Amino acid sequence: MKILAFESSCDETAVAVVEDGRRILSDAVASQADMHALYGGVVPEIASRKHVECIAALCDRALADAGVAKGDVDAVAATYAPGLIGAVLVGLNFAKSVAYALRVPLIPVHHIRGHIAANYLAFPELEPPFLALCASGGNTLLVDVADYTDFRLLGATRDDAAGECFDKAARVLGLPYPGGKPMDELARQSEGGVYELPRARIEGHELDMSFSGLKTAVVNIAHNAEQTGAPLDRAALARDFTRAVSDELVPRTLLAAQRRGRRVIVAAGGVAANSFLRADLQKACDGAGCRLYVPPLSLCGDNGAMIGAQGYYEYLAGVRADWSLNAYATREIDEPAAP
Ligand code: KG4
Repeated sequence: MKILAFESSCDETAVAVVEDGRRILSDAVASQADMHALYGGVVPEIASRKHVECIAALCDRALADAGVAKGDVDAVAATYAPGLIGAVLVGLNFAKSVAYALRVPLIPVHHIRGHIAANYLAFPELEPPFLALCASGGNTLLVDVADYTDFRLLGATRDDAAGECFDKAARVLGLPYPGGKPMDELARQSEGGVYELPRARIEGHELDMSFSGLKTAVVNIAHNAEQTGAPLDRAALARDFTRAVSDELVPRTLLAAQRRGRRVIVAAGGVAANSFLRADLQKACDGAGCRLYVPPLSLCGDNGAMIGAQGYYEYLAGVRADWSLNAYATREIDEPAAP
């Protein structure tokens, strides 16, 4: 079964063709990151306009790259939540019009379910149940994945997402947007151990997280150095910050897996590209006798293929949308796919 999939929830327009949920036939991505870098972060209105400009051409390219004619598309999948509302609307409405014109089913896909499903594309043997850590620019959550379309939210950040925190910390260290990758590179130049940064604990909610205190601490250290002229060890701060993020995520992931009795752990989302987090998760999983799956770097960030992968399993579960389907800026991962 060939699914034409659309993703436009933030600053990447992405269209892919995926076969049977597991095989990428094409994966066309147009990133707007350079444009938003001028402003130090994503400007929602610009994101929507850029999606409009390139989505039709990107759709043609995805079909051409896959060698698939429009008439051979069996279904259309699209991200319908969560994300920047204007941006999600562009991809979703384009997908609706394609599904209508081709007379094929329209499958609504939750963006974070898609991030988790990126692992199905990379690891043919991977099947639920497992415990998933999803850390991206807009979301950070721990989810029990009992089956392909059976999710249970176990914990989430109470404020900023881990990726957002990386981007903000990078900004005060003078690094370009998006800041995750340059922070990763800078952190590799130091062993750290210089800056004491906070770790959050939410009484009675061990699986919930908070990153705003950490973000503020880094901002204060950088601003303080700027104002007083005190030396700032940027690489050490990047390393200590990264260690603090890992300390927030890794033990909670293992605790969540233990509570649910899961021996398989899956990481997903842009922050799963972080080399320290990947190493720390691997070490913790080895210690606990768990198997860890982390997608290749190319599938950590936003892409259309992950929407095609999850779309396939939503389709098998009977999930369909009609033309009244709306886009949503927020929607929990364990809510039904369509209203
Ligand atoms: O999953 P994604 O592409 O978009 C959302 O769905 O939000 O994630 C983007 C986020 C950005 O905040 C970016 O800085 C972060 O992922 N990121 C990283 C790394 N590469 C990307 N964070 C830490 N280390 C990295 N190597």
